[in-house]
Amino acid sequence: MTHNAAVCAATQRHDAAFSVPAERWSVDFAAATKPKMTKGKHPHKRSEGKVLNFDHLVFWVGNAKTASSYFFTRFGFVPLAVREATDNRPIQSYAVRLNQITIVFESPTSSNSEVTKDLTAHGDFVKDVAFEVQDLDELVRKAKEGGAEVVKGITEEKDKHGVVRYAVLKTYGDNTHTLIDRSKYKGVLLPGYEELPADVLSTTLPATNLMYIDHVEGNMADGTLEDSVAWYEKNLNMHRFWCVDYKHDLVPYSCINSASVINRDENVLLSMNEAAKGLRPTSKASEFVKAFGSSGVEHIALYTDDIITTMRNLKSRGADILSWPPTYYDLIREKLKHSSVKVAESLELLQENNILIDFDERGYMLQAFTKHLQARPTVFIEILQRRNHRGFGAMNYKWVFEAIERMDISKQDSSENPENVKKTDAA
Ligand SMILES: [Fe+2]
Repeated sequence: MTHNAAVCAATQRHDAAFSVPAERWSVDFAAATKPKMTKGKHPHKRSEGKVLNFDHLVFWVGNAKTASSYFFTRFGFVPLAVREATDNRPIQSYAVRLNQITIVFESPTSSNSEVTKDLTAHGDFVKDVAFEVQDLDELVRKAKEGGAEVVKGITEEKDKHGVVRYAVLKTYGDNTHTLIDRSKYKGVLLPGYEELPADVLSTTLPATNLMYIDHVEGNMADGTLEDSVAWYEKNLNMHRFWCVDYKHDLVPYSCINSASVINRDENVLLSMNEAAKGLRPTSKASEFVKAFGSSGVEHIALYTDDIITTMRNLKSRGADILSWPPTYYDLIREKLKHSSVKVAESLELLQENNILIDFDERGYMLQAFTKHLQARPTVFIEILQRRNHRGFGAMNYKWVFEAIERMDISKQDSSENPENVKKTDAA
């Protein structure tokens, strides 16, 4: 995986059709609780079905027990619950949680399982992004009317903790969204799960303080980005999200077109990319689709309100973190000299902890990335912190690109391709 390919961004030519004055998005993101993303008004009635929150993510993996263990040893999650396989459901599920982030790892216990088929096609991957919803019946009715594929109609499950109602819709690639009404359920996750004891390492390793899911980003097969955006608008009452990234034309550097959608309450953000022609022969979107076999989820962005401590502690836990050329930080120091933005964090500490910065005149965001989590170069984790900045880090495509070119020049090796230089672990 190349450095440039790992940089999260949502780069899109400005589209006047959904242009919104930038002032609307000036919200302080330093708050510790999950903020609303925008203050826009939207023509939805209160009684309509809507997405309320990210409920949980489901990874389909070869070994749920060990994959979940990786998340609490490396990323600071704690064991939550397990659901053992049955004859009717030959899938073992392990759930982990950290603050507002819940992830379920599922593995097949039979070669006939649907999970086995998808694992063969994609390797370990994010299968489902589950949302807690309001008015499940209305959402499903509307999705059916809109032509969405309903993988599982409204289903009710219960145990001693109450009743959960849910339905499953198919979205891009082989991915699904489970829509959950848990308003009458008090259990830790879902019926059928048994709570797990604490892990012995939870008290001996430093906390990572990852708080909630900021966004989920997918890479789309060529020519399907707009259809995917329309799917969310039509079926889940979501709307296009405008952010500061979109005022720049960074496609030459990112080699992707991007768009994002957000729910009515503006706390569930989904970003999507597709390949576009740029300065590099390929793009992260096309590389992903080639490795993954279809459209799919590329990364999960997890929010922290103290990214330096988070990254320091992730490093001490042995998490695999991407590093950056030192020339990137030289370039950032020069750019900040000419900017009105004041960065509270030490640039030395940002560099030491492999943290990138994107900024404009109103604020900045800090981001870092893990390496890919599985055998295929597909899914990774982003860690980010916002300070009055609404973007996804799009400028880092350009700045990392420039940093690599600068490193080339400093080496005085004109024959060396930036793509080759990127493979060095420069930091
Ligand atoms: Fe991202």
